[in-house]
Formats: sequence, C-alpha cells, structure tokens
Amino acid sequence: MNQNPPSNANIDLKTIVDYCRRKGFVYPSSEIYGGYSATYDFGPLGTLLKQNLITAWRDWMVNYRTDTVEIEGAIFLHPNVWKASGHIDGFSDPLCEDLVTNKRYRADHLLEEAGIVADAGGLDLAEINTLLEKHNLKSIDGNPLSPAKSFNLLVKTHLGPVENENSIAYLKGESCQNIYVNWKSIQETTRRKLPFGVAQLGKAFRNEITTKQFLFRTREFEQIDMQYFVKPGTHKDSFNYWKDYRYQFYTQFLGYKSENLSWHQHGEKELVFYATEAWDIYYNFGKMGPKEMEGIHNRTDYDTRVHGELSGQDLTYFDPVDNSRYLPFIVEMSLGVNRLFLSSLFEFYTEELMENGETRVVLKFPVKLAPYKFAVLPLMKKDGLSDLGNEIYLNLRKMGISTDFDESGSIGKRYRRQDENGTVFCICVDYQSKEDGTVTVRSRDTMKQERVLISDLSDLLK
Ligand code: GAP
Repeated sequence: MNQNPPSNANIDLKTIVDYCRRKGFVYPSSEIYGGYSATYDFGPLGTLLKQNLITAWRDWMVNYRTDTVEIEGAIFLHPNVWKASGHIDGFSDPLCEDLVTNKRYRADHLLEEAGIVADAGGLDLAEINTLLEKHNLKSIDGNPLSPAKSFNLLVKTHLGPVENENSIAYLKGESCQNIYVNWKSIQETTRRKLPFGVAQLGKAFRNEITTKQFLFRTREFEQIDMQYFVKPGTHKDSFNYWKDYRYQFYTQFLGYKSENLSWHQHGEKELVFYATEAWDIYYNFGKMGPKEMEGIHNRTDYDTRVHGELSGQDLTYFDPVDNSRYLPFIVEMSLGVNRLFLSSLFEFYTEELMENGETRVVLKFPVKLAPYKFAVLPLMKKDGLSDLGNEIYLNLRKMGISTDFDESGSIGKRYRRQDENGTVFCICVDYQSKEDGTVTVRSRDTMKQERVLISDLSDLLK
C-alpha cells in the first residue's frame, strides 16, 4: 500500500459541489422548489461521465472476462424477499431525537463528529447510549437528546388499488437481491458451472438521515454489483482474488493514485448481518478524508439459504465435478455509482497555475472517462468555417465518439471551458482547414498543438 499523503488532500467538498453545479454535472433535484434532501439530477456532462464510469466497470467485470454474466432486475420485489433477506428486521441505523425540535440524528455520527470515537460503526445500541449519556451529548441545536433507537432504512410504499397492510411494498434496500432469488434460473439457463459471477446495475433506496455529503450519501442511488458464486471451501481464495481485482480496477483501469485508496476491515461488531468477513475500499474524498467507496463481503450461503427456506424452493447446486449437492457461497462486490462518480471528480479535478498567473481548472480524466473526447471550435463563424466545423462534429458523433461543439467567445476562453469539462482534445477549424483538410488539435493535458488530417482525428484516441 502506498504511504504517500493523498494527492487530493486539499480539495474540499464545496469546490466539487460548486464545480458540478456550474458546469452542469449535477443539479440538486427539484431545485426550483428549493431542492429535495439527498436527491440529485445528473446534467448533460454528468450523465456522460456516469455512463462512462458504468461502462468501465462493466468492461472490467463482465466484458473482459469469461466467467461472468449480467442481468437487469426489477425494482419491485415480493415483500417476502425483504423478509427472508433480513432487511425488514435488521436493516437499521441508530437514531436519536432532539427532544425540543424532534429532529432526528444518526447517533453514531454524532459520537464521531463530537470526537468521542473515531469510528462508531462497531458499537451496539447499548454502547452508543452509554456514551451519549456519559458525555451528555446534545443535538446540533444544543437540545437534549432521546436515547438512540433502531430505525429501519427500507423505503416503504403501497402497490395496487387498496392501501393497507397487505399492499405494502419496499423499494430495494440493496440492489443485489434479484440475483439471489434468480440464481438457479441464471445458472440453469446459461448452463454455467461454478464458479461464476452475476453482475447487475440497479437502483437502491434508503431512508438515510445524515444527508449533507452531496453524492456521498443519497436516498436513491445505483449499485453496480458482482455476486460471485463459489463452492464452499473455495470462498476464502476467491474472496482474496476479488479483493485484489477490485483494487486494480481503480489503480490500473481508471488510473487512480494508490495514495488515495485504502482498506478498511470490518470488526466483528461492525459486520452487517449477512456477512462473515467484509473489507471496504476507502477513497480519500479530499478534506472529508477516507470513506467507504465499495464493500467486498463474504456472504457465505446466507442468501441462498434464507431464500430457499422461506420460498420452499430447492436453491442447491448439483456439482458435476464430484457429484455433490450444496448451497453455493457468495463473494459480493458492491459499489455505489454516486460514490464512484464523486471519487472520480476528487481524483481528476486539478487547478494549475499558468505562466500568466491565471489558474486553469482541468479535469484530467483518462480518455475512457472523459465526457467529451473532442470539442470542435471553428476559429470564426463566417467564411464557411462554422459549416466545416459542424460537418466534422457530426461525423465524429456518427462514429460513436462523444464530441462537443462551441463557437461562442474567444478561442482562449473556449479552450478553458473545455479544460473544465475534461475534454481530451480541442479541434480548431481555421482557414487552412479549407485548403488542405487539416485542423489544429490542442491537447488538454500538455496544451501543445499539432496539425492533424481531419480523416485521422479518431486515431488520436488509440
Ligand atoms: N449489497 C451490499 C450492500 O448494499 P452496502 O455496504 O450497504 O452493501 C454497498 O452498500 C455500496 O453502496 C457502498 O459501498 C456504497 O458505495 C454504496 N452506498 C451505500 N449506501 C449509499 C448511499 N446512501 N448513498 C450512496 N451510495 C451508497
């Protein structure tokens, strides 16, 4: 593990939030009504970045491997799924209430913020309440607090024409449950043998109470999961293999600096009810410090067992290698897309002091993540330069290359705008372009310019 200090240690969350709003990466949801707590909309640049992050994950986890498949499950699942999984009874956070304002707070977060414990994740309710009482902790408004109680995070709704106990439905608390309840159908229809993995991109919803960390903790988010099914007894080796492979996704495939990543192993009390071993990949979110980005869990046969029991279906696997029958163990890798998105901004956001004393904001995304690979900038709107620029713009887009077009303002200002967007190359269309079919290409990172044939532009991305 790299021991250097994080490269983004000086970036604060506000810089990233302001940047996202200004450039159209992320808007507060329902902003014209004052926003809506912990929900966000992705703007044009944000949508492209998010798609690129998901594509990178899918390439690394599915397309570049032979032992995984992908599914897309529904958001609504039979309520028994959440009963069997343990989420109705056990998916909760410790909350206490301000006795004057009735505002609710995560008790574990209050203890951490007050500096009483560094990580309250492993404390049970009794321990939390002992500490709250011992330190006579008050709410943010300075009022007395109730003892902490368990607060279920599942988001409930009703489905169907009647609203009663029988019509209660839950939005997915974790996206992966479709994979467990479908696991046997997936195995049989794809005729896979163990070990193999099932990937899914899916929405999850949680009634989160601590919500002031932008995309880090939202009430609606996508999870990109891999659930890897293995023979019991081989799960430890598989777990260790996937831990390494997931780490390499960030360092090798996305180009994250290893000093911004670290590991956190869950202590016994911190382990969530379905896991017997859990490691988080922490990312250093600038001045917010290192926080969980992805969880890697040894779920044993917990999920196949509980769903088999409540449904009465046989979810065992017949292993033709040794004619044995067993419930597979599951190694889970679960990553929230919002956290991946936020980490990519902290990772690649750069402020550079230039020779003229101005500061240049550059998003140094690798090519695969950059929302736009090219921006076409005609030098002038007149004399046919705009038309030629539009032709190049459309042709690149038809080739499937994400490209922007900008003809307003000085060329210098347009370069700066594209640097802030993270666009890899700017294409300046000038008078010579009309003569010899070449354009000036300016690189985002080096700011160097070279003449390139229009027909060779796509080669720059190779
Ligand atoms: N299926 C396992 C599971 O859901 P988790 O540790 O609760 O495990 C996995 O969540 C990942 O989902 C986290 O590591 C994080 O990236 C993301 N995540 C969880 N809660 C989130 C929230 N409220 N907002 C954004 N992302 C969240």
